[in-house]
Amino acid sequence: MAEAVDGPVLIFDSGIGGLTVLREARMLMPDRRFVYVADNAAFPYGDWPEGALLAHMLALFERLLEEIRPACVIIACNTAFTLAGAALRERFTDTDFVGTVPAIKPAAERTASGLISVLATPATVKRDYTRALIDSFASHCHARLVGSKYLAALAETYISGGAVSDAALWAEIAPCFVEEDGRRTDIVVLACTHYPFLANRFRKLAPWPVDWLNPAEAIAMQARRVLGERPSTAIGETNRDVAIFTGRTLRPEITRLMQGFGLSVAGSDAP
Ligand code: DGL
Repeated sequence: MAEAVDGPVLIFDSGIGGLTVLREARMLMPDRRFVYVADNAAFPYGDWPEGALLAHMLALFERLLEEIRPACVIIACNTAFTLAGAALRERFTDTDFVGTVPAIKPAAERTASGLISVLATPATVKRDYTRALIDSFASHCHARLVGSKYLAALAETYISGGAVSDAALWAEIAPCFVEEDGRRTDIVVLACTHYPFLANRFRKLAPWPVDWLNPAEAIAMQARRVLGERPSTAIGETNRDVAIFTGRTLRPEITRLMQGFGLSVAGSDAP
């Protein structure tokens, strides 16, 4: 186990998707303080070449760990963790990293039809890590990988109050629905932390009901296990949760969204 540091719990994503994990983590660990980091300067991670993203993340974490000294880090991003999880653990051995990977194993265990779909960024569907999960846990299923170029950005627009059309969403999720020999897809893995924000919209558009598998609670439970009894900074009146953005310009809707999640935006005038 890594050396205990009693700082806050750091939740990391390329954008706002990690808020779906923060929501669950707070419910399970109401006394701990959270610092949310969004690497919005580099969003979307789904478009990055692997080598460049890996180097970028290692350099960024060098700084973040030094500045924040977290009790543990939750990488609430499939695109980031499937690429950089092993390298982060190897480089920063004093830090515990809790990861996010496509929930292929639980989907393969639960499917009745044997047809599952994995909805993710184009980068996550290409990762060796994702292919290895399918080989290890879903070889008895038909797993369709659906890489969506636009959904993460659409989720950001939608959750911050912008208009997102049904047609735009349907174009991205339609390939998830497979019919084969009288069987139909019954589970769609939400393998990008942004997508649970759109789950209600997906549900309305689905041609038949499916289980939209959101791993956020399981990730939060894993973080609670990793932290165990370890002390970390407690949440308090003068010690609220904060959000840190790597990009300088922040749209007012995003600042409002963060405030709605009880996060003050570091460096802004937000309360
Ligand atoms: N939230 C990220 C994930 O879980 C992806 C968003 C992006 O493309 O940056 O994969």
